[in-house]
Amino acid sequence: MYQEIELDKIDIHAEPPTEEPARQYYFMAKCRQIVQAERERLGRPLYACIQTFGCQMNARDSEKLIGILLAIGYEEAEEEGADFVIYNTCTVRDNANQRVYGRLGVLHGYKRRRPGMKIALCGCMMQEASVIEKIRRSYPFVDLVFGTHNLFQFAELFYTCLVSERMVVAIWQETDAVVEDLPSERKYAFKSGINIMFGCNNFCSYCIVPYVRGRERSREAEDILREIAALARDGVSEIMLLGQNVNSYGKNLRQPLSFAGLLEKVEEIEGIRRIRFMTSHPKDLSDDLIRVMKQSDKICRHLHLPLQSGSTKILTAMNRRYTKEQYLSLVDKIRREIPDISITTDIIVGFPGETPEDVSETIDVIQKAGFDNAFTFIYSKRTGTPAAAMAEQIPQEQVKAQFDRVLHTVQETAKQQAGRLLGRTEEVLVEEVNAHDESLMTGRLSCNTLVHFPGGKELLGQYVSVRLDECRGFYYMGKQVYGP
Ligand code: 5AD
Ligand code: SF4
Repeated sequence: MYQEIELDKIDIHAEPPTEEPARQYYFMAKCRQIVQAERERLGRPLYACIQTFGCQMNARDSEKLIGILLAIGYEEAEEEGADFVIYNTCTVRDNANQRVYGRLGVLHGYKRRRPGMKIALCGCMMQEASVIEKIRRSYPFVDLVFGTHNLFQFAELFYTCLVSERMVVAIWQETDAVVEDLPSERKYAFKSGINIMFGCNNFCSYCIVPYVRGRERSREAEDILREIAALARDGVSEIMLLGQNVNSYGKNLRQPLSFAGLLEKVEEIEGIRRIRFMTSHPKDLSDDLIRVMKQSDKICRHLHLPLQSGSTKILTAMNRRYTKEQYLSLVDKIRREIPDISITTDIIVGFPGETPEDVSETIDVIQKAGFDNAFTFIYSKRTGTPAAAMAEQIPQEQVKAQFDRVLHTVQETAKQQAGRLLGRTEEVLVEEVNAHDESLMTGRLSCNTLVHFPGGKELLGQYVSVRLDECRGFYYMGKQVYGP
């Protein structure tokens, strides 16, 4: 593992190794030398800042980038004071793209005042040719651009950027590489995300992910288990297995293994107390998975099961490959087997051709499924996806009224669900000091709901019993309970 590799012992005057990850460690050592020289010249540390847009996958990728930046000698800082700023971008909806362009204008201001500052862009947005063109044309002050498939090359690309005056652009169209054993720096000491697969093969007609994250590739189970065991030894007790569609894990492996099978192996790892995962596609959720979840004390009582729409007509146009009835009977089956589970979802409003009657179908599913929470999105047209070419795109003003109908139902349903656990004493993993009141600690229940209760910093990362005294919409207020 990387912890055992000492960068100072690498011969940086030799030819770079051709195999990975040795090649990246070689470039980390080279970058480190430059960074050290620069620190001495300036008489101060060099600072780096990473801003993450989008999903848990990106958050995990950012931890890998920070791991490398710390290894080469940077310290973390806020954006305006940083010598190196990197944006890890998202392109699932257009508003994420617009935020990046907006922020770039601000960054340009910092760069003018801070000569020598470097700016990098990476992530999903960079996999789109039109974005790269726009950056070259309108944002020539950006120093480095790379994509999702060659993120593992960051050290090498960063080295090229440090020794070059020109914009370095490195985008791969595809990859089947899964490079193991690079550094990463966790945001929390006690919990961590772990990639179990990359990419997506589903091609939902509205979604750009299969184009920017490429074909589905699963990591070998032994690599995943080894990483989790190392995290457990390092104090991590809660893990989140990450993939665009975890339920189809393992299909392309040398020795095929189902997601349920992987979970059973993860359960055996000593020191891991909570297991979460994201995201499940309803069409691939197996009875075996429900069985493994039901029998497990470690797998959390939470399932994120994106619905997208409750209208079978729209689901078909979305290429989701299930009907309204199939989704509802899946939810019924899960709730029958695991009664205390919390189910959350994603919903898109305003897909091409969606009528108010289709939205009523969505509302019907929300009420029947009794979601604990739902992320509701306005459909965003993504160039290159099949839905972008569909007739009957709906004007934004019309979508707004339908969106409000859905949001209202989601809030009502979530309110009914919340409070289910009122009065019970439940186990909470303490995550942070409450952002608004320092006398309170904030933790999470197995079902993912937040709980605030009086307590001190020494509880961080601990599991404590909390009596849930009051439910305030989406969270509980409680009191720590001692003894059996
Ligand atoms: N427009 C709006 N929402 C989208 N999502 C994915 N693509 C789009 C799009 N083009 C939503 C889906 C998905 C979540 C991560 O983002 O609901 O589950
Ligand atoms: Fe996009 Fe569908 Fe793949 Fe999810 S399953 S990433 S919505 S294509």
